[in-house]
Formats: sequence, C-alpha cells, structure tokens
Amino acid sequence: MNGTNKAINDTNATGTDFAVRLAAISKTYLWGSVGVEALKSVSLEIYRRSFNVIAGPSGSGKTTLLNVVGCIDSPGSGTVQVCGVDVLSLGDDALSDFRAKNIGFIFQNFNLIPVVSVYENVEYPLLIAREAKSRRRERVLKAIESVGIADLALRRPNELSGGQRQRVAIARALVKEPQIVLADEPTANLDSKTGTAIIELMKKMQAESHCTFIFSSHDRQLFECAEETFTMRDGCLVGHSYGDCRK
Ligand SMILES: Nc1ncnc2c1ncn2[C@@H]1O[C@H](COP(=O)(O)OP(=O)(O)O)[C@@H](O)[C@H]1O
Ligand SMILES: [Mg+2]
Repeated sequence: MNGTNKAINDTNATGTDFAVRLAAISKTYLWGSVGVEALKSVSLEIYRRSFNVIAGPSGSGKTTLLNVVGCIDSPGSGTVQVCGVDVLSLGDDALSDFRAKNIGFIFQNFNLIPVVSVYENVEYPLLIAREAKSRRRERVLKAIESVGIADLALRRPNELSGGQRQRVAIARALVKEPQIVLADEPTANLDSKTGTAIIELMKKMQAESHCTFIFSSHDRQLFECAEETFTMRDGCLVGHSYGDCRK
C-alpha cells in the first residue's frame, strides 16, 4: 500500500475518532540549491487512544513526519489535523499554545535539563503552564511514581542511567496530560533490553492515560509492541499493518 493507510478506508470511522489526520503531506528541505524530498505526499490517520510506531530506516522521513504532527515543522503542502484542529491555519502564538497544551515530546537523547533535579525536570512543563505550586507537586509526584522513579526525585540527570533518564523524559511528557505523546527513536541510545522495557513502559502509560502515543524506530523487534505500524521509506508511506496486540 502506498501513501495511505487502512484507517482512511475505514468507512465506520468518523473524524472525531482520529488524533492525527495527514492528507498529501510533502516537505522538501533545501541543501544549498538542491532539494531533498523528506516527505512525498504522505496521507495517514491515527486513531485516538492508540499506540503506534513510525518504522523505517535512517533518512526515511520519520523525524520530519513526527515534527509535522508535533507542530514543530510545517509541510510545504498538504493538510494537517491534530486533535481535530487544522493546525496549519493557526498563527504562531495559537500554535505554541496548542502544542504546549496537547503534545508531549520524548527524544532519543532525553533532552533533560542537566543542572536541575529529576523533580524539577518533570515540573518544568507545569511551570510553563503556570500551574499552582500545590497542584504541580501533586502531579509531579504522581508522574514520577507511575514511571517508577519516585526514589530518584532529588538526583540530577548525570547521576542516572540511560533507562532512568528516559523514564524522567516519559514522566515529563505525561505530566501535563497531553492528548498526544511523540517519541522520536526513544530507544536509540539504550541497550536492547532497556529499550524494550522503555517501550513497554510507554505502552502501559498510554493505556493508563488514554492519550495517543506515536514513537519512531528502526528496530524491528519493537514494532510488534505497537497496535499499528506505519512504514516509511525514502519519504513515502510504503506500508501499514495492525499489530497482534491491537485492542
Ligand atoms: N534540516 C534539514 N535540512 C536538510 N535536509 C534534511 C533536514 N532534516 C532532514 N533532512 C533530510 O530529509 C530526509 C529525511 O530525514 P529525517 O526525517 O530526519 O529521517 P529519519 O528520521 O527517518 O532518519 C533525509 O534525507 C535527511 O537528510
Ligand atoms: Mg530521525
């Protein structure tokens, strides 16, 4: 199947069933005077409250796709609906607010603030959102407890293993209770056992929080953890399949 996925052909589905709807998204980066087509007319729909992987080799367009869904980057053409909102029609301030409220990010290099504690790293999105101190405390403690790092609250990131750092990043992404969590190659800097544990934790957190999770990976072993797999190659969506674990 090229450039589409089954959900698009699901005649029982309605627009409100989807967390993400991309239609004919294209994106070309300029390298000097040479254009690199990172996305070529990609269309896909991702159900709300589902756990998904964007699969594909390095350079296939996974990061570009996640950046478009995360409203970090805009495509050259096509339409992007996230949580039912046509995000390309939003101005800069409205888009920043939308992103801050609705989307959590997890990165392969963890992107934690090195000079503050685990607790303060997880609290940071709530400070930005101007949550009251007592409410912040309640939510941070719940988030670090749920990813199993409550005993590490006062440590700095450089005192943690890679797996522990990624747990902090997961807590930070979830603490603001976003609609969607995007994780770009979250296991790329972890050994395979820790990587599998992190994906399983993400899956558990997705089930508990009822958000939509989308992670990218080039590791085949991890694809079976997902309910739906979207496969990219050379900027095209070249495959889509449902996992055995689909609810
Ligand atoms: N900022 C950029 N400038 C120029 N080319 C880019 C940029 N970002 C990505 N690309 C190119 O776009 C293509 C897709 O990249 P990317 O989305 O990062 O793929 P992946 O995440 O699957 O490795 C690659 O050919 C890459 O070199
Ligand atoms: Mg990438």
